[in-house]
Amino acid sequence: MKVSVSAPGKLMLFGEHAVVYGYPSVVTAVDKRLYVEAEQTDKEVEEVITPQVKESRFVSESISFFREKFAVKEHVKVRTRGDFSHNVGLGSSSAATVAVLAALGVLFNKFFKKRTLFDMSYQVNIKIQGVGSGFDVAAATFGGTLYFIRQGEVLEPLSVGALPLVIGYSGIKADTPSYVRKVAENFKQKKNETIDIFKKIRDLVELAKQSLLVKDYEMVGKLMTRNHVLLQQLGVSTVKLDSMIDAAFNTGAFGAKLSGAGGGDCMIALVPSEKRKNVEKAIEKAGGQVIKVKNNAEGVKIEERII
Ligand code: MEV
Repeated sequence: MKVSVSAPGKLMLFGEHAVVYGYPSVVTAVDKRLYVEAEQTDKEVEEVITPQVKESRFVSESISFFREKFAVKEHVKVRTRGDFSHNVGLGSSSAATVAVLAALGVLFNKFFKKRTLFDMSYQVNIKIQGVGSGFDVAAATFGGTLYFIRQGEVLEPLSVGALPLVIGYSGIKADTPSYVRKVAENFKQKKNETIDIFKKIRDLVELAKQSLLVKDYEMVGKLMTRNHVLLQQLGVSTVKLDSMIDAAFNTGAFGAKLSGAGGGDCMIALVPSEKRKNVEKAIEKAGGQVIKVKNNAEGVKIEERII
């Protein structure tokens, strides 16, 4: 039997970094997916075929984890294919982990709930990266838009619908673990100041959750910009991200912020429909690359089972 499974990428809407310290965040799954094909092989070793090197470690670790946990003796061949490059920071590694574990579950008739899939995938990712809240694993597993507290302490689906987002890639691949460590260093050196920033982020995440639910985009935009200023204070933004964000704001976005760890990857802007074209052009003029992405994508799903 051959199984094909896919899982979505993600965008952090609110609360990055603070989420690592137990504060809430809002994350949404996006319609860029990572596809995994898995089948048994007669060979005595795993066969891992990933077009993007970054994912191969996540695929191999997921296979080892699964074989050990479920005492599986057989070896497997796993191939991945992505709608997106790992460079843009949309979470292809987490999507790969979730999709591989789900595919192996189907292949070896091991049935587990999504919550278990989340917990297992999070364990694999932590083993590789050492740090992380698990928000990306949650988006890949459950999809939609989630109010999320680290390690899935809270996983609340939010009914927010399609958001008028514009995404700009900065052209620079961010190294998430090093930015998480950078904030950890701040936390050690300037504890009170950093906690103060985290608390301000927490408060705006709560407001953002309510504003998203009632589709008050003007307010959501304001909160995005406020969140960005706090991320600047944490020292994780860059000149490039700031200029893309300013460009979006100056051409009519409700608000904009970096999304993810900072240091590169993407910025997001919430934009009235009549301003979308102008905002996209301005982001490109500032050196960004506009990526067409829809939020609220479906979580992990079985695409095909070939007997
Ligand atoms: C990175 O995309 C978001 C961080 O909050 C890390 C994490 O939550 O794992 C910086």
